Amino acid sequence: MSRLDSFIRRMTSQKIILESLIDKVNEVDGPILELGLGNGRTYDHLREIYPNKEIFVFDHALTCHPSCAPDAEHMIQGDIRDTLAFCGPRVGGKASFAHIDIGSGDPTTDLATVHWLAPMIDERMAVGGYILTGLELKLPNFEHLPNPEGIKADRNFIYRKTSEA
Ligand SMILES: C[S@@+](CC[C@H](N)C(=O)[O-])C[C@H]1O[C@@H](n2cnc3c(N)ncnc32)[C@H](O)[C@@H]1O
Repeated sequence: MSRLDSFIRRMTSQKIILESLIDKVNEVDGPILELGLGNGRTYDHLREIYPNKEIFVFDHALTCHPSCAPDAEHMIQGDIRDTLAFCGPRVGGKASFAHIDIGSGDPTTDLATVHWLAPMIDERMAVGGYILTGLELKLPNFEHLPNPEGIKADRNFIYRKTSEA
């Protein structure tokens, strides 16, 4: 498969899964966390499909297209490893949904990321809340849900928090 085809498949899967979760996420109270603003593509889509949810965005820096920059209150700049643990007072309630798009493509780096990220994101999620991530999180108090039909299971993982740890 060419890199172009692979990119198109990845973006298509991301959009299909994000949209498949809308009704479920709307049943849960709480803001949305977007981990990894990048150029703002998925943030822009999230604010379109969740007009009634507050969305807080995390990244090292604001590098997205100006048309999809979050306002200052909702853009949390810095290393997520530092900011996620301390965002509670600003974010308010626990999250109904977290979209985590900070995979590096390097398996060792990603394992190291999962090691610090998993307990931190657990702490920020509401019971009943959903996570969509490219990183395989092993959290005993979350269930791993199947992807929508036709979406391969190896690059996108959907989790739902079933209880506090
Ligand atoms: C693949 S891009 C996100 C793409 C974005 N979701 C989009 O649709 O445009 C990954 C982003 O995660 C950010 N990132 C990765 N690890 C991070 C960390 N530990 N702290 C803060 N930002 C991080 C990178 O700076 C990068 O902008």
